[in-house]
Amino acid sequence: MDAYLSRQLISMPTSLLHYNTFGIEVSCDRLVEYCSCEELCSVLKELNESGQRWLHIGGGSNLLFLNQHFDGVILHSKIKGIEICEETDEDVLLRVGAGEDWDQFVDYCVNHGWYGLENLSFIPGEVGSSAVQNVGAYGVEAGDLIETVEGYYTKGVKASTIDKSDCHYAYRESVFKHELRGEFIVTHVWYCLRKSFRPVLTHAAVSRLLESQGIDPEHCTALQVRQAVIDVRKAKLPDPKEIGSAGSFFMNPVVPEEKANALLQDYPNMPHYPAPLPGSDETGVKIPAGWLIDQCGWKGKQLGRAGVHPLQALVLINCGGATGNDVKHLAETIQADVKAKFGIDIHPEVLFIS
Ligand code: EPU
Repeated sequence: MDAYLSRQLISMPTSLLHYNTFGIEVSCDRLVEYCSCEELCSVLKELNESGQRWLHIGGGSNLLFLNQHFDGVILHSKIKGIEICEETDEDVLLRVGAGEDWDQFVDYCVNHGWYGLENLSFIPGEVGSSAVQNVGAYGVEAGDLIETVEGYYTKGVKASTIDKSDCHYAYRESVFKHELRGEFIVTHVWYCLRKSFRPVLTHAAVSRLLESQGIDPEHCTALQVRQAVIDVRKAKLPDPKEIGSAGSFFMNPVVPEEKANALLQDYPNMPHYPAPLPGSDETGVKIPAGWLIDQCGWKGKQLGRAGVHPLQALVLINCGGATGNDVKHLAETIQADVKAKFGIDIHPEVLFIS
């Protein structure tokens, strides 16, 4: 084992305060940050031999630690690099290290004239997590642009690539969150980006902001879209450096059409969009969880040391010194209220770690 790893593996209990955007005080037995596939293989072999519990994290923007101590090893990728693997007049295929900061990667692409990711600007997290979470915003999902995901099966420590068709991308879903959870570690993500820019303007907030700046949305540049998305996000979502949160806490539920129609009788202004109904071939109706929570009167409210953001009810926040259980208690109370008022189950997007 090389000196770098042996140094990492004998480290003392480590604080994860700066590794979870909720800003929860939590520690772990050891934190191992690796910079290459070789280092990852060494640590996986060591963990397989010792049988120690481990958890791989990305930017920590989608996690809620429930206990004050995580009894095991936390793995974190610091694999960097953006390589051009193929290039034509139309597009470019990039192999990107899982440890690259997501927004720096988006910025790099827009500035190099490689388009497709600009609507995903300013999302906290890292490139590896983009492939696991299928991050999405303003009408675009990471899975739309991913070609292949490269990494290691943890059991045999075997390198493999997973084609996008086997990633099972859907709204906030992927094979890495289900069948391959804990079984596969992403080291690189291959993104195919376009060299000609076509704006995706399905979200009114982005078009409205461009228009307010005198920019015709149909003839805008990618840089203008990126800046508009950053401005819209900054206006509504808390900066994790100032207020602990994990972005959207819940996924937006998709309900059968009959259910949505019944609710529209009582709430004619309810926002709603057609969307695939999970576990069925039918089309359902997506209802924003933020709207449901807002209607229950939770926006800006606090329960213990956890609260609901005053500008976006989908975002739960750490009001100062919150534990994971404070946030969980608030989340469960909100879920019960939404169920009682609307008969709809909302599910966390955030992963609870006990
Ligand atoms: N709404 C309210 N009250 C609220 C929040 C929202 O009435 O407190 C209403 C809004 O007025 C709007 C609708 O709900 O009509 C949708 O709200 P918004 O456009 O803010 O989007 P969202 O559905 O709440 C999703 C993503 C966001 C992403 C935005 C934009 C999920 C779970 N969240 O939020 O993703 O930025 O769309 O595309 O799908 C994230 O994952 O961390 C995240 C921020």
